[in-house]
Amino acid sequence: MSEINKIRLSKSVVGKDEADAVSKIIIENGYLGMGAPVQEFENKIQAYLKTDNKVICVNSGTAALHLALMSLNLDPGDEVLVQSLTFAACFQAISAAGLKPIPCEIYPETCTIDLQDAEKRITKKTKAIMPIHYASRTGDLDKIYEFAKKHNLRVIEDAAHAFGTICKEKKVGSLGDITCFSFDGIKNITSGEGGAIVTKDPAVIQYCQDARLLGIQKDTEKRVTGNRSWEFDIKHQGYRFHMSNIFAAIGLVQLSRLDNEFKPKRQQLATQYYSELQNITKIQLFENDFDRILPHIFPIRILNSKRDALRQHLLENNIECGIHYYPNHLLSYFKVNNERLSITEEVYSQLLSLPLHPEITNNQQEFIINKIKQFFI
Ligand SMILES: Cc1ncc(COP(=O)(O)O)c(C=O)c1O
Repeated sequence: MSEINKIRLSKSVVGKDEADAVSKIIIENGYLGMGAPVQEFENKIQAYLKTDNKVICVNSGTAALHLALMSLNLDPGDEVLVQSLTFAACFQAISAAGLKPIPCEIYPETCTIDLQDAEKRITKKTKAIMPIHYASRTGDLDKIYEFAKKHNLRVIEDAAHAFGTICKEKKVGSLGDITCFSFDGIKNITSGEGGAIVTKDPAVIQYCQDARLLGIQKDTEKRVTGNRSWEFDIKHQGYRFHMSNIFAAIGLVQLSRLDNEFKPKRQQLATQYYSELQNITKIQLFENDFDRILPHIFPIRILNSKRDALRQHLLENNIECGIHYYPNHLLSYFKVNNERLSITEEVYSQLLSLPLHPEITNNQQEFIINKIKQFFI
């Protein structure tokens, strides 16, 4: 397959403005580590989310989840409920924090965590739930928070897919306990690599700010004013997870492009896929809610056991597709007593993600849709 003609599943949409911003950091600012540009990015994210919650930027979404979990001060081996159908980053972050990921089923209509199933898995060690906002949808957040309250659990929303999504008239990140975003290369906005923890909990804020800089107490406060700590104390394990000025410079430009450029294009592409594919009986679509969600991926379910054949057909036509995700409970490192999750496994076998990024042209999308229709005739 020619790399040039291939329609890519996802892609970083960056250009001269991002390059100029990076060049400014290198040539004018002269400090590539964490300084005022990171704080500016945090403040602009906070304003974008219209929240008083604090935003703490780190160097990946995985690091954001890891620090958020560490901030809860749980005991080793404590358990975190998480859907199996998610990126391995979630399971790795939980286990890196010394905790045990408990794979749960999903609701097939949304691919968000099935709370009835999760409830069956609660033990004395269950301390947190990590709902994944799969394909930018939050599921029923009220029910998730009710569930957490009932079982005395902390909630870490994995909103890696959902930057810019609106839920109950508010932006994701302004609603909950702790929310984590990813700004890796293909997300709704990218900072190259990057992520953020968003919360109002002062203990979580202080922990994450210190822990991202090796646990050096209050180093964040100094770094953003161009200083650093020379004599300091460390009271807990820390990490090298802070965001760099270069990442922040890219992220700031991306944020300024989101509402006028990326968001309308992503929503228009998703709406068009929906209206063109909704009458194909062998395809099941997720809800058509693209006025509220800012879609990061466009997964569909193929109901006639032909997912792999369709994928091959599209690949032969230079259309790259994805599968989000291989279930974590099937991975050697994360399986629990070889337990099977029948709904997750069935949905997994049907899932196919179609190309979705702001540089897909109308002609390319028409070509993709025609090739799909051709397959089902
Ligand atoms: C659902 C989900 N969670 C977490 C992550 C991790 O984010 P990052 O790649 O920035 O570490 C991703 C990234 O793809 C993701 O899709």
